[in-house]
Amino acid sequence: MAPLVWLITGCTSGFGSLMVQQILSRGDKVIATGRTLSKLSSLQESGAAVLQLDVTDSQQSLNATIVKAIAIYGRIDVLVNNAAYIQTGAWEDLEYGEWLAEFDANVLGVIKVTRAVLPHLRERKAGTIVFLSSRSGWYGDAFCSAYSGSKFALEGIVEGLRWETEQFGIKTLMIEPGRFRTKFLSPGNLRTKQSHIPDYEEASRNFIAYLAQNEDGKQPGDPLKAVEIILDLVRKEGVAEGKEVPFRLPLGRDCYETIKEKCEETLKLLKEWEGVCTSTDLPRKE
Ligand SMILES: NC(=O)c1ccc[n+]([C@@H]2O[C@H](COP(=O)([O-])OP(=O)(O)OC[C@H]3O[C@@H](n4cnc5c(N)ncnc54)[C@H](OP(=O)(O)O)[C@@H]3O)[C@@H](O)[C@H]2O)c1
Repeated sequence: MAPLVWLITGCTSGFGSLMVQQILSRGDKVIATGRTLSKLSSLQESGAAVLQLDVTDSQQSLNATIVKAIAIYGRIDVLVNNAAYIQTGAWEDLEYGEWLAEFDANVLGVIKVTRAVLPHLRERKAGTIVFLSSRSGWYGDAFCSAYSGSKFALEGIVEGLRWETEQFGIKTLMIEPGRFRTKFLSPGNLRTKQSHIPDYEEASRNFIAYLAQNEDGKQPGDPLKAVEIILDLVRKEGVAEGKEVPFRLPLGRDCYETIKEKCEETLKLLKEWEGVCTSTDLPRKE
C-alpha cells in the first residue's frame, strides 16, 4: 500500500498527538496542525510536517492553510477533524458567548476545515475524512449540554455529508470515544463554570469536584488503543482487515453501553407509542 498523507487538527495533545506518532510508525506521512506551533516541535522532530491551524480561523485563512498543506506532499489522503474542547456548566450559567465558542470550535471549525479540503478530495475522487465525535453525541449529561449539543450537531452534519460525498469515492468515518485518558478534562483544556444560581450551586460544585477527583487522569479508556483502531479502519488493516468499514464506531465499553441502552429504550418507546406516532398522517388518497 502506498503511504497515505494525513492532516490532523489539534495535535498538541491527546488523541491528535498520539495519532501522529502512530501514523509515522506505520510508514505514512502526516501534517500535524495545532494552535501553537511551538507545542508541535517534538512531533516535527519525529518526522511530521507541522502547520499552525486554529479551527476557529476564518474560512479564507483556513483555505490558505490547506493550500499550504497540500503543497507539502502534493496531496492529502486523510483529514482527521480531531480538535475540540469541552465547556461544562449549567444551561443558565453559560453565557451566549460561551455556547457560541463551543460550537465555533467543535462544529463550525470542523465545517470550515472540511470545506477547505473537500474540493481536493472530490477532484481526486478519493480520500477519507475522520470525525472525532463522542459518547456525548448520543447522550446529554447534566452540566455538559454545550459539549453534547456540539457533538450531536456533528453527528447530523456528517451523516448528511456522507450521503453527499460517497459517490465521489470519499469515505467518512465517525469515531465515538467514551471516556479516554487524555488531557481533555485537565486544567488548561477543560473549561468549566461554577454556578452562582443557588438552585444549581451545590450540584455544580459537586460536578466540578467529581471531574477533577474521579475523572481527570482516571478515565477507563486507553487512547493509544483507540488510535490504533482508527488507523486500522482508515488503512483497512488489523481489526478492519477484510471487513466493511462502518460509518460510525463507538470506542470504549462506557460508550458501547450508553448507545445500547439508548437504542433499546428508543425501540421500546417506538413499540409502545407506535399507534400515536403514526396517527398524525393525513388520510391517503387512493
Ligand atoms: N478524551 C476523551 O475522553 C474524549 C471522549 C470523547 C471524544 N473526545 C474527542 O477527541 C478529540 C480530541 O480530544 P482529546 O481527548 O485528545 O483532548 P485533548 O488532549 O484536550 O486535545 C484536544 C486538542 O484540541 C486542540 N484544540 C482545541 N481547540 C482548538 C482550536 N480552536 N483549534 C485547533 N486546535 C484546538 C487542543 O489544542 P491546544 O493545545 O491549543 O488547546 C488539543 O490539541 C476531541 O474532538 C474530543 O471531543 C475525547
